[in-house]
Amino acid sequence: MNQRRYFATGHKGLEQVLAAELRAPEIGATEVRSGSSGTWFSGGRDAGYRACLWLRSGIRVLEEIARGPASSPEELYEWAMTLDWSAWLTVKQTFSIEARVWDSQITHSKYAALRIKDALCDSFRRRCGSRPDVDTERADLPLFLYIYRDEAILYRDLAGTTLHKRGYRDALHKSSLNEALAAGILLQAAYDGRVAFADPMCGAGTFAIEAALIAARRAPGLLRQRFPFESWPDFDRQLWKDCRGRAYGMARYEVPKAIMANDRHSGALALAAKDAAAAGVGEYIRFSEAEVGAFAPEEPLGLVCVNPPWGKRLSGPDVKTAWRDLGRFLRERCAGANVSVLTGNRDLVGELGLVPAEMRPLRTGKVECWVVRFRNIS
Ligand SMILES: C[S@@+](CC[C@H](N)C(=O)[O-])C[C@H]1O[C@@H](n2cnc3c(N)ncnc32)[C@H](O)[C@@H]1O
Repeated sequence: MNQRRYFATGHKGLEQVLAAELRAPEIGATEVRSGSSGTWFSGGRDAGYRACLWLRSGIRVLEEIARGPASSPEELYEWAMTLDWSAWLTVKQTFSIEARVWDSQITHSKYAALRIKDALCDSFRRRCGSRPDVDTERADLPLFLYIYRDEAILYRDLAGTTLHKRGYRDALHKSSLNEALAAGILLQAAYDGRVAFADPMCGAGTFAIEAALIAARRAPGLLRQRFPFESWPDFDRQLWKDCRGRAYGMARYEVPKAIMANDRHSGALALAAKDAAAAGVGEYIRFSEAEVGAFAPEEPLGLVCVNPPWGKRLSGPDVKTAWRDLGRFLRERCAGANVSVLTGNRDLVGELGLVPAEMRPLRTGKVECWVVRFRNIS
């Protein structure tokens, strides 16, 4: 099968996790190399399909389709006019284009995207008298243009909607934790389902749901209705069926160790339980409603991941008390466990009364946060 070059993006700070996922046998990518904005990898068409199915910490999977000169908007347009666009979409299909420019003569990414759009449309009009429409929400062919200095790289985005939108959650949960970030933090802590897990302040339950998907070896991409590449001219239906079939074959219908999710807020727990059911893992998570200080896990924990309340306006006495109560819970009920605490406010970490083993920076969108890790709590 023809080798292709791909580029996967994820959260800054979780590059090594993303690279390890790509190298793992479920995806089996080769030439995996992490950069500051994402991770390159190679493989056949199946590697791209499997990345969409299996990546947990990934956000996008882009396949490089063309590379050319871009020292000016005119040169970019001329180059794009030489491309055979019919290899990637038909005139009846829709497309979208997003661009990033870096250290380039072309300083406006929107203008760069516009020149590619013009070339695509002009090229179709010349050939068949009409052009494909743009659809910014659900394009058949989502394109991504990256310009670095004088060179343009054109990618097609296999997933379209970012991969963290697994499909188990609706728009109601605007403030819930990003699913890819939660999965990345679990994988960073080497979670594979073989130790008991708890999130004592679970909110919408993202850590617990992602933990259950990992423990039950569920490919998150199986939760999606459809990927854009399924309508591409070179889509290999049989190969995709085989990739999905293998993923279904690997699923477990039980989890080896307990997964517990606790919160004091019944509304949050109801939504978490609904999402867990939608993800097909509701029966693997034990939900409980209690103050963190009263939460008593039923068995010794191996891993705790938690995202306690924080925020610039949320560092008052209530938040400090919540952190102190969490610290007491960790010290008194989590002996021997590893703990990852996600926070955007490092000043609160001292309230836990524990000495961190490490504090790793992470970036989610424009928000800078930290994963504070404690090992083998005693
Ligand atoms: C930032 S949210 C967690 C978000 C969550 N990780 C998710 O996936 O959406 C913090 C959660 O801590 C809970 N919480 C705050 N203080 C608590 C306490 N003392 N005991 C238990 N839960 C608490 C809140 O109800 C809230 O759901």
